[in-house]
Amino acid sequence: MSGAAAPGRTARPRRLGAAIPVAALGALLWAPAAHAAPPPGASSCSGCHGVAGGAVPALAGRPAGEIVADMQAFRTGARPATVMDRIAKGFTDEETRAIADWIAAGSRANAQP
Ligand code: HEC
Repeated sequence: MSGAAAPGRTARPRRLGAAIPVAALGALLWAPAAHAAPPPGASSCSGCHGVAGGAVPALAGRPAGEIVADMQAFRTGARPATVMDRIAKGFTDEETRAIADWIAAGSRANAQP
């Protein structure tokens, strides 16, 4: 008698559907709607910015206003970028502000040791 039978989960079809935008980056940015804490898109920043010693500058300890200003400069093209111009264009001012506040408040995007 081995009592532990599988609970009989039915496979839930996970449809990613056709809603996924062109770029994989876009998908990254819009995905994390399930988490309550970070505003939409915020947790995607840590994928690049949270890597200690990486080529991408860390956002740790950066004031929200500075992040917002940088993002606006990337969006308008005032500041040259390799990827941030495209990323910044994916967010409205409000979203950018929410993300910046979240990061400045010491979020996981900072990936502090
Ligand atoms: C695909 C990797 C990637 C992701 C995701 C990403 N960044 Fe960046 N970020 C970069 C790179 C690379 C740079 C340097 C500028 C460039 O080449 O685009 C940068 C630069 C920046 C800068 C300027 C930093 C400095 O010291 O000058 C800010 C602010 C910034 N990113 C904010 C964000 C925010 C906010 C998010 C999330 C919405 C984000 N980034 C997501 C790669 C990324």
